Amino acid sequence: MRNNASEILNRIVEKARATAPLAAREGMLPYGGEGGRWRPSPFDGNSWWTGGFWPGAMWLLYAATGECLFMDEARRTEALLTAELRAFKLLNHDVGFMYLLSCGADFKLTGDAQAETDCLHAASLLMGRFNPAGFIRAWNEVDRVGYAIIDCMMNLSLLFWASRRTGDPRFDHVARIHADTTLRHFMRPDGSVSHIVEFDPQTGAPLREHAGQGYALGTAWSRGQAWGLYGFALAFACTGDGRYLEASRRVADFFIAHIRPDGLTDCDFMQPALPERIDNIAGACGASGLLTLAELTGEARYREAGERLLDGMIERCCDLSPGRCGLLTHCTASYHDDAAGVHTNIVYGDFFLIEALLKVLNKNPNLWRPN
Ligand code: GLY
Repeated sequence: MRNNASEILNRIVEKARATAPLAAREGMLPYGGEGGRWRPSPFDGNSWWTGGFWPGAMWLLYAATGECLFMDEARRTEALLTAELRAFKLLNHDVGFMYLLSCGADFKLTGDAQAETDCLHAASLLMGRFNPAGFIRAWNEVDRVGYAIIDCMMNLSLLFWASRRTGDPRFDHVARIHADTTLRHFMRPDGSVSHIVEFDPQTGAPLREHAGQGYALGTAWSRGQAWGLYGFALAFACTGDGRYLEASRRVADFFIAHIRPDGLTDCDFMQPALPERIDNIAGACGASGLLTLAELTGEARYREAGERLLDGMIERCCDLSPGRCGLLTHCTASYHDDAAGVHTNIVYGDFFLIEALLKVLNKNPNLWRPN
């Protein structure tokens, strides 16, 4: 890396020591930073799918420093999320993101028994979304009963974890069936992945694709590519099935070919040149996925590409000043839906940035992997 990862991490830790207590003072779960304040999710309160990234970031910083401040803040917000398990109705397949990075991280780093129980509860909820016709249902709307989305590849880690904890292979079977369906119906010949595929909920036959958070139907939403490359790499790490590693490589090669010369990431790799729409969440998640792929394959080119992304973001889009909340600028939740945030700070970009830096520094606690 051109930048000194250790020095950047020290500045992030210093900044977080000052900004994490601001969230605690307001009793809220941050979705993103805005000047000197944190803002909550614009949708669904603490049930919104991004809820796990803040406690996840706090657990990463705790793993890196051992400082109780970060553990306490992670636990404070973990309690907000476990309350949502009881509310239940707004939760969907993204319980993997939400609970593996909060309760799962707590259990991994501290051995807390209640955190393990809560995480198993979330895993059971995710398994309950499995349609035996061959896929995990993504969302709850009655007209989306057959929808599955590429993002779910990341949620499968919760199922692999649960199989390991319980000794019950059902979680593992379901995760593999869903991953195989994704291999068959989301992978495109050029190595990119689709975002949303609708299946017949009775037979499992693919019916049609839908446009999602990218530019248009059939284009390549960059964060979806990052979910695919990282999710398949994790599926390989959890199962040893080489088909998943091959899929991860193919998506990674497509992603690498589209990294901008300045190291930033467009929101969609097939978007028009103007207006400029950057999504550094995709860049950070892509970087972290590429570093894992480098570890799994031993290939330096994946590490170099991950570090190129990190350098681009650190030099152009990373706010390390102690007075403001949030790190990465130019995060874009969705190409067309401005309500979720455009060119702003969003918490999961920061999570993946910190995670990728910890990988560079060999300090990553591997929150997505069972051991
Ligand atoms: N999982 C939804 C997203 O990436 O925005």
